[in-house]
Amino acid sequence: MQSARIHPNDDMFHGSAEHYASVGTQMADFVSHAAALANARSPNVLELPCGYGRVTRHLVSRFYPQQIHVADIMVPAVDFCVEEFSVNAYSIVDPVYEFKNVPDEFFDVAALGSLITHLSGHNARTVMKHFLQKLKPGGVAVVTTHGERSREILGTVDCYQVGDAARTHLLASYDAGQYGFVNYMPDHSLESKTVDYIGDSYGIALIPHQWVSDVCRENGVEILEYRRGGWDNHQDVFFISRE
Ligand SMILES: C[S@@+](CC[C@H](N)C(=O)[O-])C[C@H]1O[C@@H](n2cnc3c(N)ncnc32)[C@H](O)[C@@H]1O
Repeated sequence: MQSARIHPNDDMFHGSAEHYASVGTQMADFVSHAAALANARSPNVLELPCGYGRVTRHLVSRFYPQQIHVADIMVPAVDFCVEEFSVNAYSIVDPVYEFKNVPDEFFDVAALGSLITHLSGHNARTVMKHFLQKLKPGGVAVVTTHGERSREILGTVDCYQVGDAARTHLLASYDAGQYGFVNYMPDHSLESKTVDYIGDSYGIALIPHQWVSDVCRENGVEILEYRRGGWDNHQDVFFISRE
């Protein structure tokens, strides 16, 4: 399945098939690790969001496609994953941060790869609350953030194309222990098709570790493992279990 097509509208593809495969494989490795932490030999897996299947293509080579469920707000992306990988799929509809059409308490493993990285603190809090309810008791989530490692990178270069003022705001918020969120520059090229589809609610967040800890406490879940910059030497990775 690793030779599956890369969709022409896939914003996660930046020109290197090797890098695209490496990032997808790393997330599939995290999902396998989460399944082991959950003691689930034949897990029901949720991948939310799935985009155009950068990760999904690696999940289907290690789990049963009928036990993989993917979801995204972009209907063409969801349709592509169904066609290409024969997984179960949900198009996310209003209220778009509550995922009401995805079953609750059903999944042994749930991956939230690079979603709250793009949302305001308010929307990210709503996402975490509803996403974590998708886990069965004993299930384990993989959640990625722009955190410690992103702060380090953003301190040296405007890696998210947000412009000087927004970059300064993100860094100052983060350093003050606050969740930061800004929009992309109007002429940005990163993830432009996704922003065109979703609108200005989709930007760039910088998220202190403490924010994740607080949200986990509010939702009665536990951080089992933390890997600074663990995804592509960039996004921080949290393994979170529901009792
Ligand atoms: C940075 S991409 C990550 C995609 C995938 N996880 C990956 O790593 O390849 C973010 C994705 O979030 C999706 N998205 C944004 N808002 C969403 C929402 N409210 N519900 C579901 N998906 C959403 C976008 O359509 C996009 O596909």
